[in-house]
Amino acid sequence: MTEALFEIEGLSIDSTRGGARRRIVDNVTLSVEPGELYGLVGESGSGKSISMMASVGLAAAGLDVIGGEVRFSNRRRPAREQSGLRGNLSHGVSLLFQNAKGALSPFLTVARQVERALVSAGFRGHRTSELNELFRVVGLNLRDVGGKYPHQISGGQAQRVAMACALATRPALLIADEPTTALDVTTERELLRFLAETCARREMAIVLVAHNLSLVSEYCRRLSILHAGQVVESGDLGKIFASPLHPYTQGLIAAVPDVDEPRELIPLSGSVWGGPEGIDRCRFSHRCSFVTPTCEQRRPAAIFRDGRDVHCMLYEEIPS
Ligand SMILES: Nc1ncnc2c1ncn2[C@@H]1O[C@H](COP(=O)(O)OP(=O)(O)OP(=O)(O)O)[C@@H](O)[C@H]1O
Ligand code: SF4
Ligand SMILES: [Mg+2]
Repeated sequence: MTEALFEIEGLSIDSTRGGARRRIVDNVTLSVEPGELYGLVGESGSGKSISMMASVGLAAAGLDVIGGEVRFSNRRRPAREQSGLRGNLSHGVSLLFQNAKGALSPFLTVARQVERALVSAGFRGHRTSELNELFRVVGLNLRDVGGKYPHQISGGQAQRVAMACALATRPALLIADEPTTALDVTTERELLRFLAETCARREMAIVLVAHNLSLVSEYCRRLSILHAGQVVESGDLGKIFASPLHPYTQGLIAAVPDVDEPRELIPLSGSVWGGPEGIDRCRFSHRCSFVTPTCEQRRPAAIFRDGRDVHCMLYEEIPS
């Protein structure tokens, strides 16, 4: 197996909002290989963004990183050392978010913004030709679009400009957090296809964060599925889709429409957050039809089975 480029191990984060402490990310582990397009999927509020932001030292106010480690390119750091992790952002990790229009400066032309990203990445070559190349790579023409301000371009074009800024640093890892959520379906597909091609061409790894499982299934070979801040199943996407093991994954896949074989869709009942606070437990217990008292007494261990890790007591060996 190839050595991982980026690893998160046992990341745990508490929310301290309003003075009350609540565990919102619980022992999250994931591992991304060089040049891989890796999916991170979960319902809204399951902790995808918080986990990824904390992994690059950008945990927001009101969040307390209480444990775990992050390794990027052979450098391992405790996740609590947020300022140290931020250093990875200028040494090989780039970020891409949804709503690029809001994130771009309204006062600078888009060419100037990409140029700034180049300069801050320490680029020393011929800037205009590199700008031309970056615009070309993201499917834009520097001459047509470069002189425009963000309000003068479409949402899809703004997202491509944000990608050019992210690619300007020639990252080894791009964390793309719902990069196409605000776009129409055609533009979304176009941009994701482009990201997948860039990933292959530049040997750049991407963590694609999404709540849409069918979207991720088109582009990623491996994924992690998050529920209420816990990884429930992670590994080979084909195997997980063919035979989901965790009851949550089974529910998610049953809720994905299949154009080839239309069937009755079964929506997942209950909300992400629920059940008792303040104890180690399976955080799916309040929604699970297989729940037993043990599920609320400890956190399920990761069991490796058929190409994936599953975190569910149904698969733990009963000691004889
Ligand atoms: N700054 C904060 N302080 C305290 N709690 C927060 C903070 N930001 C988010 N949360 C809580 O953390 C949980 C996870 O939020 P997060 O934004 O990571 O979810 P997500 O999986 O990215 O959802 P979405 O798909 O909607 O983007 C939510 O319950 C949210 O209310
Ligand atoms: S550990 Fe228990 S509650 Fe959690 S998914 Fe498995 S059976 Fe259900
Ligand atoms: Mg999010």
